[in-house]
Amino acid sequence: MTKILVAGGAGYIGAHTVKELRKKGYGVVVFDNLSTGRREFVRETELVVGDLEDKDEVRNVFRAHSISAVIHFASLIQVGESYLHPQRYYTQNLTSSLNLLEIMLEAKVKSFIFSSSAAVYGVPRKLPIPEEHALSPINPYGYTKLFVEQILRDYDRAYGLKFISLRYFNASGADPDGEMGECHDPETHLIPNILLAALGKKDVLEIFGTSFPTPDGTAIRDYIHVTDLAEAHVLALSRLMESPQSEFVNLGTNVGYSVREVVAKAEKITGRKVPVRERSNREGDVPVLLASKDKAERLLGWRVHRSDIETIIATAWNWHRKESNGPINGDPMMERKSGTS
Ligand code: UFG
Repeated sequence: MTKILVAGGAGYIGAHTVKELRKKGYGVVVFDNLSTGRREFVRETELVVGDLEDKDEVRNVFRAHSISAVIHFASLIQVGESYLHPQRYYTQNLTSSLNLLEIMLEAKVKSFIFSSSAAVYGVPRKLPIPEEHALSPINPYGYTKLFVEQILRDYDRAYGLKFISLRYFNASGADPDGEMGECHDPETHLIPNILLAALGKKDVLEIFGTSFPTPDGTAIRDYIHVTDLAEAHVLALSRLMESPQSEFVNLGTNVGYSVREVVAKAEKITGRKVPVRERSNREGDVPVLLASKDKAERLLGWRVHRSDIETIIATAWNWHRKESNGPINGDPMMERKSGTS
């Protein structure tokens, strides 16, 4: 049986996607260095612990399995950190992608799904943002995603590699069965931070920016449930296998919520007060990000089922409450750094 290789499949979005692939009957092998991913997220799926920076380790996976396609989630993901440590971001995000692509081509595997980001667009000139919008990142993280997209374009032209690059907006929420959720260390994302404040694990939620040109002055984002994202990967994979043509596709809902609106919804759902402190904007934060989802619907037949803000917060809350009772596998030393998508 051929298998899908999922690089970074023990991370937040990767693990949710592995679960959806398995539901649809795909054979899967996960390749992850567990620097940020969690072994228990992979459950019974085969896990190869290895590093994309080591070509031999990657080559060995292709030798040991009959791989028909690759989904690549493994990357550093924090915008703020990418300003501070651009070298780490360019080196790691580009090397890992280049190595993976090199070994794929050696093995004559030519179907690739890439975790890209709305960060490739930079400051929106038009809302909702369509895929043909200008590509002009405003941070090193966004540039690493854009550079990999350019590499993919060139590898398609020269080597016939076919890819779908999925540009995520704000991935959020948790597995409806409570098996996996979002955790980074340090946590920088809005919804986990709100829930940590509701749980008393953080003193306050800092609201970054209260004078944006939005109705309540706080930034508006397009939150997309991680299981809806995961389903989009499975649809993209099946589309690529049936009709090999490279594409760039936004994954968002075209519906936005401000920071204050998300806080208010979370207070309602958790029944707890979320203490807040108003702060100045984070560097590089834009007032509004909204995805046009027309192409994802048209090309992939994708529909969102869980991306209303209530379901996003309720599933995340369910998981965070469980997490707050201790790590799932009982290992207090488990690494939880920021990273894998
Ligand atoms: N925010 C706060 N307080 C916090 C955390 C966030 O006020 O503690 C605000 C941010 O300033 C922003 C909004 O909440 O306005 C959402 O912030 P997130 O950090 O959750 O997400 P971002 O929109 O900054 O970034 C996300 C992904 C990036 C991706 C970007 C582009 O994390 O990888 O979307 O779509 F590049």
